[in-house]
Amino acid sequence: TPRPELKCVRGLPLIKYFAENWEQVEKFQARPDDLLISTYPKAGTTWISEIVDQILNDGDIEKSKRDAIFIRVPFLEFAVPGVLKGTEQLAAMPPPRVIKTHLPVEFLPQSFWDKNCKMIYVARNAKDVAVSFYHFYQMAKVHPDPGTWEEFLQKYMDGKVSYGSWYDHVKGWWEKKKDYRILYLFYEDMKENPKREIRKVMKFMEKDLGEEVLERIVRDTSFKIMKENSMANYDTIPTCVMDHSISPFMRKGIAGDWKNHFTVAQNEAFDADYAKKMGQTSLRFRTEV
Ligand code: A3P
Repeated sequence: TPRPELKCVRGLPLIKYFAENWEQVEKFQARPDDLLISTYPKAGTTWISEIVDQILNDGDIEKSKRDAIFIRVPFLEFAVPGVLKGTEQLAAMPPPRVIKTHLPVEFLPQSFWDKNCKMIYVARNAKDVAVSFYHFYQMAKVHPDPGTWEEFLQKYMDGKVSYGSWYDHVKGWWEKKKDYRILYLFYEDMKENPKREIRKVMKFMEKDLGEEVLERIVRDTSFKIMKENSMANYDTIPTCVMDHSISPFMRKGIAGDWKNHFTVAQNEAFDADYAKKMGQTSLRFRTEV
C-alpha cells in the first residue's frame, strides 16, 4: 500500500488524518487543572507520559497498566468526536487530565494559555531526534516514505517533516516559558540522572510521594522496563499503523546514537546550518551524556 503524503495546515505539515480533523483541535477547551505534555516528535513523549502517569497513580504500576500509554495520556490531535475514541475519552477523563501534543507553540489552542494550564515540555538534541524520527517514519506507516537517510535528513533540516521544524519548535516553547507555567526538561538530563529529573516533575505536579516511591518510578520508567511493558511500548497498535518488525518503537533509548548514522560530511553541514538557525537563542543542547 502506498504511503500517504503529509498535508499542511497553515503551513504546518501534518499527517493527513490530523490535518483533515484540524478544526477539532482549534475548538478544544482546556480546563484549568489539565496538565499538558508537549514535545517535538521523538523527544521522549512516551517516557515523560509514563512518568507523569505513574506519579499521578502514586507509583502504583498496576494502576498505570490499566491501559496503553496512548490511551492514558491521549493526543490532543487525536480529538475527533465519534471517530476516534480519544475525544469521548478526553471529555470523560477524570481530572486532572494529562494530554499530550506535538504542536508548535503557536498552534496550541488558545484556551490552554487562557486557563494557565501547567505544561511539561521535553526537548531532545536535534541529531538524535533526526535519527529516531527516521526510524519512526519507516515503522509508522501513516508517514510518507522517508527515502534514504541522506534524503530524510535534508527534509528534517528544512522542516519538511511531520510537525515541521525542530528548530522553531524547541525555540518557540523555550520563549513561552518566561510567561507561563512550563517545566522545560531535556531528554539528555533525564538519561543522565532520571531521579533528579523525576523529582522536578513531582515538585511541579505538587506530589510529594517520598523517596521509596520515587525510586520505584525511576525503575519502572527505565528504558529496559518500559520496553518490556506492553502498556508502554506501543505493542498493542495494529501493524498497519506501527510495524515493530521494521524498527521497534522502543528502539535504543540513548543519547548519542546519531554518531552511528551521520557521516562526517553530514555532520559538518548539519552543524553549520544549526549555528545559523540556533545562534540567537540561549537554548543549549548536549548531544551525548
Ligand atoms: P530512539 O528511537 O532513539 O530509541 P517519543 O515517545 O517522543 O516518540 O520518543 C521515542 C524515543 O524515546 C525513542 O528513541 C525511544 O526509544 C525513546 N524512549 C522511550 N522510552 C524511553 C525511556 N524510558 N528511556 C529512554 N528513552 C526512551
